[in-house]
Amino acid sequence: MRLFLAPMEGVVDHNIRQLYAGIGGIDLAVTEFVRVSKGRLPDFIFHRLCPELTNPIDIPVRVQLLGSDPQNLAEHAARAADLGACGIDLNFGCPAKTVNKSRGGACLLTEPTLLHDIARAVRNAVPDSIPVTAKIRLGFNGREGYIDNAKALADGGIAELFVHARSKVDGYKPPAYWPLISEIVDALSIPVIANGEIWTIENALQCIKESACQDIMIGRGLLARPDLALAIKHHFAGTAYTFKTWDETLPKVWQYHLSTLETYDPKYAGNRLKQWLMYLKLTYPEAEPFFEQIKRLRKANELQDAYEHYQKIRLS
Ligand SMILES: Cc1cc2nc3c(=O)[nH]c(=O)nc-3n(C[C@H](O)[C@H](O)[C@H](O)COP(=O)(O)O)c2cc1C
Repeated sequence: MRLFLAPMEGVVDHNIRQLYAGIGGIDLAVTEFVRVSKGRLPDFIFHRLCPELTNPIDIPVRVQLLGSDPQNLAEHAARAADLGACGIDLNFGCPAKTVNKSRGGACLLTEPTLLHDIARAVRNAVPDSIPVTAKIRLGFNGREGYIDNAKALADGGIAELFVHARSKVDGYKPPAYWPLISEIVDALSIPVIANGEIWTIENALQCIKESACQDIMIGRGLLARPDLALAIKHHFAGTAYTFKTWDETLPKVWQYHLSTLETYDPKYAGNRLKQWLMYLKLTYPEAEPFFEQIKRLRKANELQDAYEHYQKIRLS
C-alpha cells in the first residue's frame, strides 16, 4: 500500500515535508496550493511553495494547483513541469468561502464538465511522464454527484484520484463516509486513494476495508502523530513498532519551528508551530502546557525563552 501526506494549507510546507520524509512511512506529499486566477504567476511562487523543485527530498512532491480556468491551469501546470515538478495535483476539495467565491476548490464539484475540461487541458499540457492527479470531496451541497465527478476527471486523463470522504457541507465533522469511496473505486479503472478521519492504525485498516482502496492519504492524523504512517507501514509488514514518545518528538517539533523562522516573515513567528501543536496535543498531553505557554507569544526570542523554560521544568 502507498501512504500519502495530505496537502494542508498553512501547515504542510517544505520544512514539515522534509521532516516527515525523515520520519518515514510516507510515499508522497503535495505542496500547499498555487492559486491560479488571472494572469501568469512568476516562477518564484512555484519555488517558494515547492523548494523541492531544485532541492529534492526523499519523497516525491506534487505541485498543487487551485483554479477554474482550464487554459490558465494548463499553462501553469506546464510551467511547473518545466521547473521540475514530478506531478501536478488539482484541488477540487477546498471548502473555504473566499476560495469558493472566486470559483476555486469544492464549488467546482457542481460542474463535472468543467472538471473534465480542466483535467484534459492540464493533462495535454504536461509531458506524459508527469502524473496529473486530482483531489475531490464527495460533493458540494451534499454527498452527491461524486461518481459523475470522478468519471469526468478520469475521462479527462488524471492518473489517480484522491477522495476526501465528506461533502463540502460536512466540513471536517466526523464521520468520513469511507464506504461511498468504494462506489468510486468500482466506477473507475485508475487508482483511487481514500482520505479522511484516519487517526490510528485501526482507522487505517477500517478505511481500507470500507473504501476498497489499496492506498490512503492522511492529513491531521499525521500532524497529531508524526510517526503514524511509519506505524501503519510496520503493521502491514508484520514488524513490531513502538510509537515515539513526546521526549523523542519534541526536538523535531522545535527543529521545525526554527526552520520556519528562516522561511517566513518574523511577524508570523510561531504561527505554524502553534498550528501543529494544536494537533500534537491530541496525542501528547505534555504538549498542552507548552501550547498554553506560547499561544500568545509572537516574537522568536520569547518563543525560545518559553521553550527553554518548558524544557527546564519538564526535565528537572
Ligand atoms: C488546515 C488544513 C488545510 C488544508 N488544505 C488543503 C489543501 O490545500 N488542499 C487540499 O486538497 N486539501 C486540503 N485540506 C484537506 C486535507 O488534505 C484532507 O483532505 C482533510 O484534512 C481530511 O483528511 P484528514 O482527516 O486525514 O485530515 C486541508 C485540511 C486542513 C485541516
